[in-house]
Amino acid sequence: MNSSIELGVCAITGIGSYVPQRILTNADLEKMVETTDDWITSRTGIKQRRIAADNEFTSDLAARAAEKALAHAGLPAAEVDLIIVATITPDMPFPAAACLVQEKIGATRAAAFDLEAACTGFLYGIEVGRQFVNSGVYKNVLVIGAEKLSSIVDWQDRNTCVLFGDGAGAALLQRRTGSAGILGSKLGSDGSKAHILSMPGGGSRQPASVQSVSSRAHYLHMEGKEVFKNAVVAMGAAAKEVLGNCGLDISQIKCIIPHQANRRIIDAIGERLGAAPEQVFVNLEKYGNTSAASVGIALDEAVAAGRVQRGDKLLLVAFGAGLTWGAMVVEW
Ligand code: UT7
Repeated sequence: MNSSIELGVCAITGIGSYVPQRILTNADLEKMVETTDDWITSRTGIKQRRIAADNEFTSDLAARAAEKALAHAGLPAAEVDLIIVATITPDMPFPAAACLVQEKIGATRAAAFDLEAACTGFLYGIEVGRQFVNSGVYKNVLVIGAEKLSSIVDWQDRNTCVLFGDGAGAALLQRRTGSAGILGSKLGSDGSKAHILSMPGGGSRQPASVQSVSSRAHYLHMEGKEVFKNAVVAMGAAAKEVLGNCGLDISQIKCIIPHQANRRIIDAIGERLGAAPEQVFVNLEKYGNTSAASVGIALDEAVAAGRVQRGDKLLLVAFGAGLTWGAMVVEW
């Protein structure tokens, strides 16, 4: 027998998500900026998004999702070896949100760090966590994508404020005996296009100052059309490459879980891959774009809805600032 099958391969053995209670609808946004439900729905597919409370932070959302993933897997928090939080909206520049989560869930023996790959963060986090599991360094790795994007959205900019929401998705990675698990992945990046999606202020280039605040540098800025074009090309190519590497045809994929940024982007990727609409999971009408959280939330909802059964093959695919992108094939 193949020794990797005897030892098991890294698998997602628990999944969970959490979204804040407060709902911000397109009708609410009509009262805040010059926009319409019709424009937002037809250009993006988004109908509403969740907004965290003033006293609810990224680590709170992450901790709630993490607890659900651990409960799903039946693993006590004290047995978690490593926590990776993927986020562009940590509670503060440092310490890491992962350390705050470690304390909140009582993962007393876990190492913890944050990882930043914007909307691709959940896939980057799983790929990093998988290396620790496959190498045998850690047995139980918690990967959480969590964002309070409402804290960096410019609520005066109709080009961006209608798109984003808050939430968290979490996955537990462990070895599972047999051949099922994470079958392959492809990550990519292109820093030459860093400028098309960024938050320019608050780092070493432009630290907080009266000037940085008055020029709105602490908000998210995006060239939407450029991001759109790059997203379709990069996600389509990464997905095809990883499917090819796994020797799989799109017809063998039960469910595609794409990053939830724009319905038109999701449809374009489905078309590029030759997927049937019923293969593609979409929930962005409820949550908008939750960046690093979106794939985890969508995967959790797909599992809860019975769209994913043990043994099914899934394709996760994401794209975000950096630019970064990734695709991953998972046998559930
Ligand atoms: O998570 C990864 C990163 N993010 C994404 O993947 C998002 C990628 N981009 C997109 O989803 C789309 O580009 C947007 C939804 C952001 C924009 O859609 P678009 O079809 O590319 O529209 P556009 O930027 O070309 O804007 C069209 C028009 C503009 O008016 P003019 O210049 O043609 O008169 C905008 O000012 O729509 C206007 N507009 C709006 N109108 C009403 C932009 N935002 C709004 C709005 N309400 N909220």
